Amino acid sequence: MVNLSKCFGAAALASLLAACSSTGVENGKADAADLGTSVVIDATGADSVIINRNIYGHFSEHLGHCIYGGLWVGKDSKIPNVDGVRKDVIDALKKIRIPNLRWPGGCFADEYHWKNGIGPKENRAKMVNTHWGGVVEDNSFGTNEFLNMCEEIGTEPYICGNVGSGSVEEMSEWVEYMTFDGESPMANLRKKYGREKPWNVKFFAVGNESWGCGGNMTPAYYSDLYRRYQTFARNYGNNHLLKVAGGPNVDDYNWTETVMKNVPIWQMWGLSLHYYVHPGGWDNKGSATKFSEEQYVQTMQRAYHMDELITKHDSIMTKYDPEKKVALVVDEWGAWYDVEPGTNPGFLFQQNTMRDALVAAVTLNIFHKHADRVRMANLAQIINVLQSIIFTDGEKMMLTPTYHIFDMYKVHQDALLLPSTTSCPDIVCGGFNAAQISASASKDKDGVIHVSLANLDTRNATDVKVALKGAEAGSVADALVVKADDIATFNDFDHPDNISLNGFDGVKVGNDGIITVSMPAMSVVTFAIK
Ligand code: AHR
Repeated sequence: MVNLSKCFGAAALASLLAACSSTGVENGKADAADLGTSVVIDATGADSVIINRNIYGHFSEHLGHCIYGGLWVGKDSKIPNVDGVRKDVIDALKKIRIPNLRWPGGCFADEYHWKNGIGPKENRAKMVNTHWGGVVEDNSFGTNEFLNMCEEIGTEPYICGNVGSGSVEEMSEWVEYMTFDGESPMANLRKKYGREKPWNVKFFAVGNESWGCGGNMTPAYYSDLYRRYQTFARNYGNNHLLKVAGGPNVDDYNWTETVMKNVPIWQMWGLSLHYYVHPGGWDNKGSATKFSEEQYVQTMQRAYHMDELITKHDSIMTKYDPEKKVALVVDEWGAWYDVEPGTNPGFLFQQNTMRDALVAAVTLNIFHKHADRVRMANLAQIINVLQSIIFTDGEKMMLTPTYHIFDMYKVHQDALLLPSTTSCPDIVCGGFNAAQISASASKDKDGVIHVSLANLDTRNATDVKVALKGAEAGSVADALVVKADDIATFNDFDHPDNISLNGFDGVKVGNDGIITVSMPAMSVVTFAIK
């Protein structure tokens, strides 16, 4: 339960009630200054960009029960499966239209030798998973299993190659095994192991966290390695790899500067960024379910920090790439807390509360805002690890609050970003603060505008006025809400619907064309304007 210390009082809120900015509303009859807590949306979308669906990507590492027991149970399991992959999980992932899935790591990727994971299972070499619990990895889930699973789910594979402990030849052969259609040693090996035609592999990362677990390299040394390794990751036939260079950790701006300076932009499709929300810092992450209001506000402040990180890395990238050809790929993000008591510390299993649903909403809104540079992202991690969207336990499977945000937000995939301006107070506690309302809007290919709002205030329901600039709001429809009565509420196998996605009737259009959204405390709402 949240410790309700004296935060978010009305007086504190009133004193902090400062408009983030104010914008005239041409089609509505009010000015933003008159609207109080409000969001003004430029509905014309002039000069705007598409929100790349790939920012809704996920991440699956050989870590804890992400792969084994999470995605993969094996063909002989009594748990319903499609070629070894859990059927319940496949269905859940299809529903939210996951656009891409990163694999096999993470830190695991730089110790992974792909040839150990192909061919007859009984011949596959076993290895120690040194990063994650020191458990035996039997390699029963390998390249064929992963790529077949991606085809079944209907998602693009995002492979992370081994630079830290692998050779150029090994990486080059992996690409050949996966994507070459013809006579060659690796293509023949693939055929021998049951797959005649190559797979389509779109996204390919050259190493992971090369500044840390991926080899403790300097950015200059990594840049040289990147240039060399990527040269031999070939494009075969129609398969065109979108190559991602290993980017900075959090605010390591020197890394971004050095890689952008040393690697010609035509050699990379993207540069990665990793940022996790640790409420009290790396050494004081805190519990996923037992936290104070102060820790809650601190968490949200850290979630908003993503905006500053992207802004600063983007401005460095723009010096070398003014046309923004290179994507910033936030291929690890999410909240990272202490593991649940009694679980293996190397398995990174944590619960997922309404706080995490809000972290997801705020972060996705930030990615939308930076859609001109952020064209791919991967939440860490998809099942049973860190900020997961799904938990499994034997035959049981359930969806976390974060899953419901991805479900609710899928309407923004590949839609046109509509820039918006938010006016709101901050929530404050113990020296931490965060904007109470996080918002985003987009227009889909049918011309339907979708608006998403998050109310971070845990105590007060709030009316948020939404005004369109450059269009009339005819009617509102399809409103959905994710909410809870307590910020620490979570789902478990006995209570899988404590937090779920539900219809919402709190959105109304006034005669003045201004929309009022009556947001419950600690809630996320998405609705359509037609
Ligand atoms: O997601 C867990 C780990 O966090 C990944 O393996 C690594 O890349 C990062 O440090």
